[in-house]
Amino acid sequence: MNSPLAPALLAREAALVLLQAALARRGGLDEALSAARYMALSPQDRGFARAVVMATLRRLGPIDRALDDKLKKEPPTPSRDLLRLGLAQAFWLDTPAFAAVDTTVSLAPKPLRGLVNAVLRNVLRAGQPDESAEFLAPPWLLARWRAAYGETEALAIAAQIALEPATDLSPRDPADPTIAEDLEAETLDGGTLRVDRRGDVATWPGFAEGRWWVQDRAAALPARLLHVMPGESVLDLCAAPGGKTLQLAAAGAAVTAVDKSAGRLRRVNAGLARTGLSAETAAADAAAWPDTRQFDAVLLDAPCSATGTFRRHPDVLWNARPSDIPSLVQLQAKLLASAAGRVRPGGRLVYSVCSLETEEGEAQVTDFLSAQPDFALDPILPGEGGAPGVSLASEGWLRLLPHHAEGGLDGFFIARFRRRAAA
Ligand SMILES: C[S@@+](CC[C@H](N)C(=O)[O-])C[C@H]1O[C@@H](n2cnc3c(N)ncnc32)[C@H](O)[C@@H]1O
Repeated sequence: MNSPLAPALLAREAALVLLQAALARRGGLDEALSAARYMALSPQDRGFARAVVMATLRRLGPIDRALDDKLKKEPPTPSRDLLRLGLAQAFWLDTPAFAAVDTTVSLAPKPLRGLVNAVLRNVLRAGQPDESAEFLAPPWLLARWRAAYGETEALAIAAQIALEPATDLSPRDPADPTIAEDLEAETLDGGTLRVDRRGDVATWPGFAEGRWWVQDRAAALPARLLHVMPGESVLDLCAAPGGKTLQLAAAGAAVTAVDKSAGRLRRVNAGLARTGLSAETAAADAAAWPDTRQFDAVLLDAPCSATGTFRRHPDVLWNARPSDIPSLVQLQAKLLASAAGRVRPGGRLVYSVCSLETEEGEAQVTDFLSAQPDFALDPILPGEGGAPGVSLASEGWLRLLPHHAEGGLDGFFIARFRRRAAA
């Protein structure tokens, strides 16, 4: 059946579906972006729908504040989501206000059109919402960041939420200068390539030949800090979707990549196939994996609240819940204990999380060291791997905050340990 919607409304209807998915649960946006319904749109409509949703999620705090100022009570679903998308178009995309109003009202169910029209016009008349950093993050997260890092740092973190990041890539062969030339990329400290292009990465030079993969400059650090040598045995626990597996394999290590999710592990295998690299892969719970081998180096990039990834995934901010953190901390501790047993005497272990929450980083390491007398911190050195100097804590671990480098980077915590050699 043909859609009854006019062409101008198709992309906006898709944006509504995406926004609802993004706010329903973690991972909902990614799923909706790969759904058949979204993929059936023209590339232009897909691009517009995605841009509207990302602009909305990056300013959800200021948008909701402006709406709450004008709404006497919560309007029936899907009014708020429609209003959010309409305001994002009018205030932050180049959509003329009249077009944002007309299309938003047309998408509303008939009984809600009067209300949506009145509220939208009212908020537009009040002018640009206040986008100060203090309104960009969910209040409970901002309160945590204030407690952990202080007022100035917390606001600097939050200010990054509104900014659209460039795309970072890791080259398969860091010594090949032609990749940066072909992509007109900037080469950052450590070798990450930063690209200002937009659109489908699969159409960019070198993708089909597997000469690079998308990976934030902070996400490239944990594997880099293991300094693996060709032929070393390396275990990548919690490996999917596989950016770090590719780095370790590209360095010439004999890599074993484990992930609990068979579906996500398929993405690791697809990355390996595209880049022509190889690794052994296993779908297993890393805490209970019965393999008894010990490895020269182990990387545990643990499941976490992912609050550090809001630059590309602003939906994480709005799906995270305070109650998630204690259960993640427990899981990380279990995985760390399992990872430790798989490191050979004298071998090294890197623990990382893309979280800004100190329970998942600093506190986890302190607990690990007191539970594992066989392990000592192997302090990261200033500038090692291309990490910003400001991110290096006096203890020797990295606490990367999103504003620690020009153009931003994902928030990460990274610590490196060495297992004592056998006596
Ligand atoms: C932060 S992501 C890893 C990202 C990956 N290292 C990369 O660079 O692409 C965490 C991963 O942990 C996996 N995971 C969660 N619990 C696990 C468990 N108990 N054992 C193994 N993998 C697990 C998830 O499926 C997810 O793929």
